[in-house]
Amino acid sequence: MSIIELTDEQKMIRDVARDFSENEIKPVAAELDSLGKFPAKLVKKMAELGFMGIFVPERYGGSGMDTFSYVLALEEICKACASTGVIMSVNNSLVCEPILRFGTEDQKKKYLPPLAKGEKLGCFSLSEPAAGSDAGSIRTTAVRNGQYYVINGTKNWVTNGSEADIVILFASVDLSKKHRGITGFMVEKETPGVIVGRKEDKLGIKASSTSQLIFEGCRVPVENRLGGEEKGFKMAMQTLDGGRIGIAAQAVGIAQAAFEEAARYSQDRESFGKRISKFQAIQFMLADMATRIEGARLLVWQAAMMKDRRKKYSKQSAMAKVFASETAMWVATKAIQIHGGYGYTTDYPVERHFRDAKITEIYEGTSEIQRIVIANEILKEFS
Ligand code: CAA
Repeated sequence: MSIIELTDEQKMIRDVARDFSENEIKPVAAELDSLGKFPAKLVKKMAELGFMGIFVPERYGGSGMDTFSYVLALEEICKACASTGVIMSVNNSLVCEPILRFGTEDQKKKYLPPLAKGEKLGCFSLSEPAAGSDAGSIRTTAVRNGQYYVINGTKNWVTNGSEADIVILFASVDLSKKHRGITGFMVEKETPGVIVGRKEDKLGIKASSTSQLIFEGCRVPVENRLGGEEKGFKMAMQTLDGGRIGIAAQAVGIAQAAFEEAARYSQDRESFGKRISKFQAIQFMLADMATRIEGARLLVWQAAMMKDRRKKYSKQSAMAKVFASETAMWVATKAIQIHGGYGYTTDYPVERHFRDAKITEIYEGTSEIQRIVIANEILKEFS
């Protein structure tokens, strides 16, 4: 419960997501994790529910809802399975959003309907083996040759990389210009010269794929350039500002799941002749977990509302991400502590939540990068 009143439409999408998550995702989440299996059926079902293109307008095949609805739904999905959640998050925030924001009318008509309807899946390809946090230093090149750009380079850490059909790709048309040479493209994965490289074996979010993508003489038509030449770095940053709200919502979902498991367990487990929930040591942990989660959720909601109201929200999205992801890690650690030895085993879901929480402090900008963004924005206010 919160002081913020949800609209009927927002309540509806949250409830639909909650039911789907509880009834269809939660029962299979542990198995998907242990098998490292991409949840293709769940992704299809999410598309049917309108979750793969939540803020894509209906005229382009999407649900035409706001960012607030998106974070409500995403939290619920991630509560059951963070892997399924990140697939949804990337398709919405990092793929549909930049096409919607920076694409031409023809590009929107061509790419948004299949992405929003789940007929195609998207991925976002910025990071490279030697350029993650320092995104302005990417080395992948795009050389114009008539009506094509020829792309060469290697990309890392691409969520959905193996399964995606459409790649939002960033490459430089002039390496000497550093970040100012970066240009965005929409690359169809079937284009000759796109090679799926190594698939990472990860600590968490095991049911989602994270792959390397290699571009070898890949010819991308000029009409597939996203935005103007050399406009890519700002587009990537603006896209990540939105994406970080999604990852923050994911972190809140993971934290909420770990908290609920711990609260339930504390009411069941007895020690020294009484339920462990009777001990102040446990009560204080539960109180701090609940408080931090509410704080994180409010930051996520604030960032989502600012985006919906078209205000500048870089600082708020970075604050939401750093606070929510560190909350998820902290809460999951305490959840395991409350479970004792049992929490350290795969018999209880808290160890999965703990493993899944960690990535939220890393991808779409590490916690350290979020602090840089926040500090830069604060210092602008005082310059
Ligand atoms: N919006 C618009 N413009 C922005 C911006 C923003 N949020 N942030 C920076 N810019 C602009 C600046 O105004 C500046 O413009 P000029 O060239 O006109 O001066 C330009 O971009 C360069 O800005 P900085 O000097 O601040 O750039 P920097 O090189 O110091 O980098 C950074 C800033 C914040 C560290 C940035 O590099 C960054 O966010 N790094 C992290 C990248 C990241 O999050 N990667 C995750 C990739 S996706 C992923 O994780 C995988 C997945 O599949 C989910």
